[in-house]
Amino acid sequence: MNAALATTVAVEHWPLPGGRSVRLRALGPGDAGAEKAFFNGLSPGSRQQRFHFGLRELSPALLRLLIDVDQRLHRAWVVETGDAGSPAVIADARYVCDPERPTVAEFALAVADDWQGRGLGRRLLAHLIAQARRQGLRQLFGDVLAENRRMLGLMREFGMRLQAHADGAGLVRAVLALDGAAD
Ligand SMILES: CC(C)(COP(=O)(O)OP(=O)(O)OC[C@H]1O[C@@H](n2cnc3c(N)ncnc32)[C@H](O)[C@@H]1OP(=O)(O)O)[C@@H](O)C(=O)NCCC(=O)NCCS
Repeated sequence: MNAALATTVAVEHWPLPGGRSVRLRALGPGDAGAEKAFFNGLSPGSRQQRFHFGLRELSPALLRLLIDVDQRLHRAWVVETGDAGSPAVIADARYVCDPERPTVAEFALAVADDWQGRGLGRRLLAHLIAQARRQGLRQLFGDVLAENRRMLGLMREFGMRLQAHADGAGLVRAVLALDGAAD
């Protein structure tokens, strides 16, 4: 098994304050139902922040895109609760490489509302950056609503350069060069 694949199948246990633990694993082909429940369970505000448009629930087409993950050009992970028997997805993080420039990828993440503010977003962003580096990517970027102060704060914390977005003042593009090269 090569190193890239090994990293996609590994499960990481993340202890949380208070004694609970959750686990991170790669999104798999059997996750359509869990993904649908996760995204449809986000509050309207969190869904708007994740997708940038009002979305009452995931369309079948969008769900197909979200689970169409090859773990090479489109890599995705979920965090699920450690409850035996009925684990629930409580966070999703991914990046998608540009087919024209496969060392450049766009990332996005979301944490279930009830689980926000416990450090999962920070850990997931660190995970995405580490995986992108390991895969040899040169740049990660993410588009974020200009009003999303929490995400902007996290992006700054990880050294991302925030720049004006071509689509207007409502959006900000955060860019991280992964190899020190000019981006
Ligand atoms: C943005 C998001 C991913 C952050 O995840 P999270 O798990 O809540 O973030 P963390 O717990 O790791 O906190 C990171 C920082 O955010 C800020 N933060 C967290 N909870 C907060 C709250 N309730 N109020 C204000 N700031 C908060 C803090 O600065 C925190 O740093 P600290 O730990 O030093 O206090 C999450 O809020 C989310 O899913 N939002 C909706 C979807 C979204 O915006 N996705 C981003 C699009 S790319």
